Amino acid sequence: MQRRIPPPIQTERLLLRLLGSGDAAALLALYGDGDVMRHWNHRPWTTLAQAQAAVTEARRDVRNGSALHLAIVLRASGELIGSCALYDIHPATRRALVGYLLARRHWGHGYAAEALRALLAQAFLELELDWIEAEVDRDNDASIRLLERLGFLHRSERRAQWMVMDQPQEVALYALARSNCP
Ligand SMILES: CC(C)(COP(=O)(O)OP(=O)(O)OC[C@H]1O[C@@H](n2cnc3c(N)ncnc32)[C@H](O)[C@@H]1OP(=O)(O)O)[C@@H](O)C(=O)NCCC(=O)NCCS
Repeated sequence: MQRRIPPPIQTERLLLRLLGSGDAAALLALYGDGDVMRHWNHRPWTTLAQAQAAVTEARRDVRNGSALHLAIVLRASGELIGSCALYDIHPATRRALVGYLLARRHWGHGYAAEALRALLAQAFLELELDWIEAEVDRDNDASIRLLERLGFLHRSERRAQWMVMDQPQEVALYALARSNCP
C-alpha cells in the first residue's frame, strides 16, 4: 500500500525531513566517520554510491510504510547534521524500531533528544504505534543516556545479529510504550 508522504517536522532548532538525492554527500560524511559508526551495525561507508542507495531505499520505504528515515537539519543554517529513523514498522502489532545518529561535532547540544521527541510524537500520534524499541550496543553510553532521558526502559540483553568492527556484541533492548511517553 502506498503511504502518504509525511510533511517535514519542525522543532525549536531542527527540521526533520525526507532524505533526497541532494543529501548523498552529507550522508556519506556522516556514515563514513569511524567515530560516529563505532557502535553501528555495519562498517563505515566508503563510497557515494552507498549513500545514494540509502537515499533510494529510504524514499522507497517511506512510500511502502515500512520505515520513516528522516534527515536532521539545523534550521538556522540548513546543514544536515544527522538522521533518525523508525524502521521495521509493523502496523499489525503497532511497533517499530528507532535509530539515530549525529555528526560528531554536533554531539552534546541536545539535538538528538530534540529530534527523537518529535519522531516519537510522529510514531505515537500520527502512525498510531504503541511500542517503540531500540537495540543498542551495551558500550554505547551516549545512546543509552539518550534513551533513558527519553523515558525508554531497559527490557533485555542478547547477542547481536551483527558484528561491530568484526567483534560479536551484546546489545541491550530498550522500549518505550505510548502510555509511558512523557
Ligand atoms: C547517540 C548520539 C546521537 C547522542 O548524541 P548526544 O549529543 O549525546 O545526545 P543529545 O543530542 O540529546 O545531547 C545530549 C547532551 O547534550 C547536552 N546538552 C547541551 N545543550 C543541551 C540542550 N540545549 N538541550 C539538551 N541537552 C543539551 C546534554 O547535557 C547531554 O550531555 P550528556 O549526555 O553529557 O549528559 C550520538 O552520540 C551519536 O550520534 N552517536 C553515534 C551514532 C550512534 O551510536 N547512534 C546510536 C545507535 S543505537
